[in-house]
Amino acid sequence: MEELMRQVLLSLSKNKNANQLAKQFGLRFGAQRFVAGETIATAIARVQQLNASGMRVTLDHLGEFVLDKAEAEASCDHCVETLYAMDRAQVDANLSIKLTQLGLDIDKELCFENVQRILTAAKEVNRFVRIDMEDHTRCDVTLELLHRVRERFDNVGTVMQSYLYRAADDVAHLAGLGIPLRIVKGAYKEPKEVAYPEKRDVDENYKRLVSQSLRLGNRTAIATHDDTLIEWAKRFVEQEGISRDLFEFQMLYGIRTGLAQSLVTQGYGMRIYVPFGTDWYGYFMRRLAERPANVGFVLRGLVRS
Ligand code: FDA
Repeated sequence: MEELMRQVLLSLSKNKNANQLAKQFGLRFGAQRFVAGETIATAIARVQQLNASGMRVTLDHLGEFVLDKAEAEASCDHCVETLYAMDRAQVDANLSIKLTQLGLDIDKELCFENVQRILTAAKEVNRFVRIDMEDHTRCDVTLELLHRVRERFDNVGTVMQSYLYRAADDVAHLAGLGIPLRIVKGAYKEPKEVAYPEKRDVDENYKRLVSQSLRLGNRTAIATHDDTLIEWAKRFVEQEGISRDLFEFQMLYGIRTGLAQSLVTQGYGMRIYVPFGTDWYGYFMRRLAERPANVGFVLRGLVRS
């Protein structure tokens, strides 16, 4: 039943009409739990609070699967403005972006130009940019664009998803090139031809990817809320004598906040992924799919609205 619910929620996450409708509603149905607000100002205020509790941040100006050129360019403008706002506020934050928000599905070259514009601004204000990984059909093109921008920029990295069979080969290649990697389990609906269907295989592969990346001396973000994997990672870095400067834990805004705080208290680097903006629908549906019990938040949100 839970698996069925997960599949339904993931299918709904790509529904364009629902997405358009959601933008007009404003942050509703419990989405406020996972999304920090609609404007850059509210996002920066949230970053300041998190920084005050010892956490770094990566800001994500929400948006994905854009099919309109003007919208992709507006999204790019927003990312650039967000970087300048971080600089003005002198906060400890960097930026996460999605290529489909910047026009990947319209024209690869338009997307490439937009990413370069963001990286130029990021370089100017000395910030790092992470290219999020979307569904498997966009993996090759994401890596292709990453390699192209890496020819000019060193302030950029990406994400590897442990549910993908291909991930170990990709990590070996990218970590070998010194490209900073965030390791996640993966959030999209993927067929068994490309992704492990069983959680235990995804978790085993997660350990494999983190160890591969760290053993190659690569900057690695261990992005998970899974206690077992976090405890495993703590033991692994201890046994291998890996410096705490080489890795950080990362979590999503609104999830396992107590655990995040406790890792900070133990002296580990912790970065919170903070999404903001009006395009919250797809992101929110993926968070519900990860834990269908979260649907209770939606129902409570509906009662309140
Ligand atoms: P798992 O799903 O097994 O959850 C472990 C525990 O965490 C659960 O038992 C529960 O307690 C808690 N939890 C997890 N999700 C929850 C939720 N939604 N609500 C409430 N509790 C929850 N994916 C991707 O495909 N591309 C990307 O670029 C990124 N980027 C990214 C950045 C960061 C910083 C994080 C933390 C995650 C991502 N992800 C992602 C999402 C990732 O792939 C994955 O879907 C989620 O992190 C959930 O997986 P966990 O590793 O937390 O394990």
